[in-house]
Amino acid sequence: MNSFEELVLKRYSCRDYQARSVDRALVSQIIETAHFAPSATNAQPWRIYVIDSPENLAKVRRAYHREWFNAAPVVLMLCALKNKAWTRADGKNHANIDVAILADHLTLAAADKGLGTCWVCNFDAELLTKYFGLDSDCEPVVLLPMGYAATDEIPAKKRKSLSEIVEYL
Ligand SMILES: Cc1cc2nc3c(=O)[nH]c(=O)nc-3n(C[C@H](O)[C@H](O)[C@H](O)COP(=O)(O)O)c2cc1C
Repeated sequence: MNSFEELVLKRYSCRDYQARSVDRALVSQIIETAHFAPSATNAQPWRIYVIDSPENLAKVRRAYHREWFNAAPVVLMLCALKNKAWTRADGKNHANIDVAILADHLTLAAADKGLGTCWVCNFDAELLTKYFGLDSDCEPVVLLPMGYAATDEIPAKKRKSLSEIVEYL
């Protein structure tokens, strides 16, 4: 891995995983790197739950029903701690932004270690709260399935052109 650009292009939403398990030591290394992510006032208003036991994987899979998701051997459940996050004077709470930055660091750190991930937000948050006994302050924001991709092929990026999204003022 040479450049940041290469790493960014290597990361994609992986929805096809090998049955192979992922060592906890590797997951821990990825989290160690990603936890240097910035956050507003450095509040770090997050909890990272590593779900890799058959019992808890079964629970998390009930909150997001996709065949491909069932194949991921590890799922990180990223939660926002709203009460610990910085709130701007106009009342905007920054917990979700902070967790999104953490999630992005995790996806890139995982790609750097040869692991696939996929952002998942379309889950049943109530179920997760119930199954894992989360406090009312601890909101599940992102599920990150993680594992070895079934293929080495990296899909081409589909993105808007810069002229559509950039404006110099
Ligand atoms: C905030 C957010 C929520 C997402 N939620 C889901 C999801 O629930 N299920 C899913 O399959 N992909 C989800 N994705 C993945 C996007 O579909 C994907 O990032 C996008 O199509 C770009 O493709 P790429 O990640 O391969 O570059 C989500 C991505 C983001 C950033």
